[in-house]
Amino acid sequence: MEEVRRPEDELDKKDTSEHIEVNIQDLEEEEIKFVNNPIVGLKPIEKEFLGAVKEVRQEGNKFIFSDGSASVEIRVVSDEIIRVRLAPHSSFLEEFSYAVPSLDQKVAVFNFVDGDGFYSVSTNTVSCIINKANFHISFKDLDGVVTSEDHLAMHWEENDQFGGYYVYCTKKCYPEEAFFGLGDKPTDLNLRGKRLQNWNSDTYSFAKHQDPLYRSIPFYISLNEGRAYGIFLDNTFKTHFDFGQEDREKLSFWADGGELQYYYIHGPHMMDVVKRYHTLTGTHALPPIWALGYHQCRWSYYPESKLHDLAHNFRSRKIPCDALYLDIDYMDGYRCFTWNKKYFPNPKKMIKELADDGFKTVVIIDPGIKVDDNYWVFKEGKEKKYFCRRSDDYFMEGHVWPGRCQFPDFTNPEVRQWWGGLFQELVDVGVAGVWNDMNEPAVFGKGTFPDDVRHQYDGHRGSHRKAHNVYGMQMVRATYTGLKKIQKNKRPFTITRAGYSGVQRYSSCWTGDNVASWEHLKIGSLQMQRLSMSGLPFAGTDIGGFSGEPTGELFTRWIQLGVFSPFMRAHSAGDTAEREPWSFGPELEAINRKFIELRYKLLPYIYSAFWEHHRYGFPILRPVVMLEQDKPVNRYREDEFTFGDKILACPVLEEGATSRKVYLPKGVWFNYWTLEQFEGGEEILVDAPLDSMPIFVKAGSVVPEYPVMQHTNEFEVEEMKFQVYYSATEVNSFYFEDHGDTFAYEQDIYMEKKFVVNGDKKCMTIKQSVEGLFTPRYEMYELVINGLPFKPGKLLIDGKAYNGSLELNEQNRLIVKTPKQFKQVQVMK
Ligand code: GLC
Repeated sequence: MEEVRRPEDELDKKDTSEHIEVNIQDLEEEEIKFVNNPIVGLKPIEKEFLGAVKEVRQEGNKFIFSDGSASVEIRVVSDEIIRVRLAPHSSFLEEFSYAVPSLDQKVAVFNFVDGDGFYSVSTNTVSCIINKANFHISFKDLDGVVTSEDHLAMHWEENDQFGGYYVYCTKKCYPEEAFFGLGDKPTDLNLRGKRLQNWNSDTYSFAKHQDPLYRSIPFYISLNEGRAYGIFLDNTFKTHFDFGQEDREKLSFWADGGELQYYYIHGPHMMDVVKRYHTLTGTHALPPIWALGYHQCRWSYYPESKLHDLAHNFRSRKIPCDALYLDIDYMDGYRCFTWNKKYFPNPKKMIKELADDGFKTVVIIDPGIKVDDNYWVFKEGKEKKYFCRRSDDYFMEGHVWPGRCQFPDFTNPEVRQWWGGLFQELVDVGVAGVWNDMNEPAVFGKGTFPDDVRHQYDGHRGSHRKAHNVYGMQMVRATYTGLKKIQKNKRPFTITRAGYSGVQRYSSCWTGDNVASWEHLKIGSLQMQRLSMSGLPFAGTDIGGFSGEPTGELFTRWIQLGVFSPFMRAHSAGDTAEREPWSFGPELEAINRKFIELRYKLLPYIYSAFWEHHRYGFPILRPVVMLEQDKPVNRYREDEFTFGDKILACPVLEEGATSRKVYLPKGVWFNYWTLEQFEGGEEILVDAPLDSMPIFVKAGSVVPEYPVMQHTNEFEVEEMKFQVYYSATEVNSFYFEDHGDTFAYEQDIYMEKKFVVNGDKKCMTIKQSVEGLFTPRYEMYELVINGLPFKPGKLLIDGKAYNGSLELNEQNRLIVKTPKQFKQVQVMK
């Protein structure tokens, strides 16, 4: 095959990022612009556009259209996904993507039409139409509705500085169109009117609307007149999105290099779009169940006695907790994979003692490796030439925590393998999880690497411009893959700060260095919803805020939000006061305990939601607009969301609030605390004193519940409890269980239970069906039936009369014990 020359390989040898030394203060504004961008004013900028289509050829499920010079490939990926690629000079780059590991989707039946003025490529659900005269591309659904349409033909501009092209796509932006997604952007839920970019950045104490932050997820969902579609721009260079900011009628996305390659993902429901995005980029594996418990972190807990105190506090105060974290001070001079023996003389013993008390130990790892010839990791990396180099072949050096550092090139598979192997010792001493930090990559003073740093990019070499946004993802991939190998059948637990689309296959994430403020509480709630709908379901914020000091009230409200954060971890910076659930006095400690206990009660529900994500691609958190996309006002509802599809969480985000407005989506909802029932479709005012937070459960739900445990491994459940909520319409619920810590589920060693609840004024039925090979040890269920509209007179389990009591308790709940394998329970008047 002919070798394709990549634009970024034509890099100028000189370091273009640090070109001129000037004292900025001495310059006028105009001059500053010139200094920052030496190209401006040298040459008029000219963009080239696709011209009229001249020819087309088919190669299997791909159609290649050409205007005589440039080419566009349209590929049918599945019934609902079509990929578009542009090659300005007709040579497409080799197929390679970190986000989309393979494109072996089922190619549906498709149809090609050479029409009057247009070509079309259609599947059973979507048509891609190419206008012959102007090369505009549009997408149409089966109802004939055009959902997306080019405003300009795809275009490009030569990048004089680096070679290659800036590549652009400009589509029509419809008057009522709303936009969602794009990862961790700390801005309004609806992205309409915003211009945003993707360039992984270390953004300590970031502000509302600040952009870009730590991650690059070039995937958005459009919603227009009740129909949704998605675009995933699979390009790892710096990418930009303009959702009608510059021009209300234009929606543009573009990249500073690489190929214009995007996937059109059909809806019409937003949920369909997210699920289909996951068919491309993968879902999160099932986490070990302990990872869903409460985690306590701080920069840093040391020495060893501190950890024991902490553990003792949790257990003696009876506040559940599953994991304690070691931040950078556990290392010897911040050298990764070493221990500070003064603080931690015997890590194995300490970790074992913590483990005996039910705590997992998670440690931090950074990509910066200290330049020190007496340090084995550095020596090995240097000998094997694993560190990144500049274009002039000098090593990429920068200062991070340990001082002068070099950085592994994680885009090299051999380096990833080496890095993965370095965890052997940490695993041997008992470390249970690895927190991957500073992997944007962050460099003190400079921000990140200069653009000319070279990367192996899995055999598709390129500069840092191409590799920057995937560096962190490839680091955590190396960590995850290494741990998976070392731990054999045990599920690794990893967290990452930086990432690119697809990083969910390797890691959970947290939103980085936030601030202890009410504004950040809101931002965090939004970021988690947005990450969840952008393909990163296992996300959390630093509970309490990383920098600054929260009041006790703010911390408690954050713990409450934390119960409904897929990843629940409190963390704080080293220069702040200590911040544990008991730090704000006994009254708040009691409330914090109550909510952490709630997290543990809900664990089997939360775990089941993760299964639904893993298996079916459902997001874990769902903003209201994903439940009711037809209602325009829902595009702006960002202060409540569902966790899974049954529980509506309405965190209190205002200081001093003792109530809050809640919008209940259509259907009947139970107040979780009072069991009062409400017909949805409108807003209600709900009491929310500090010891409460509005939570609603959908009628018809079957919510599994654990007894309160101090950690997930404390004891085995002897009887499984389910909270059942009456409904007059049929509602399905899923419950998943397995060993909780292995990959046996991949061999069908799991149990997925489906419950169907339905009722009328005289009878309520609960049906159960079961799939999978796992057998739980318990034999009995306790069903707690809530909201019966009649006084129960009779109860049948698989047709046989139940001989236990049918008395309702003081909350009008009926409690029934049944064998776990029942097929049908009927409660009758
Ligand atoms: C970074 C991380 C933070 C961590 C600190 C020290 O700021 O974002 O979570 O505590 O580094 O390692």
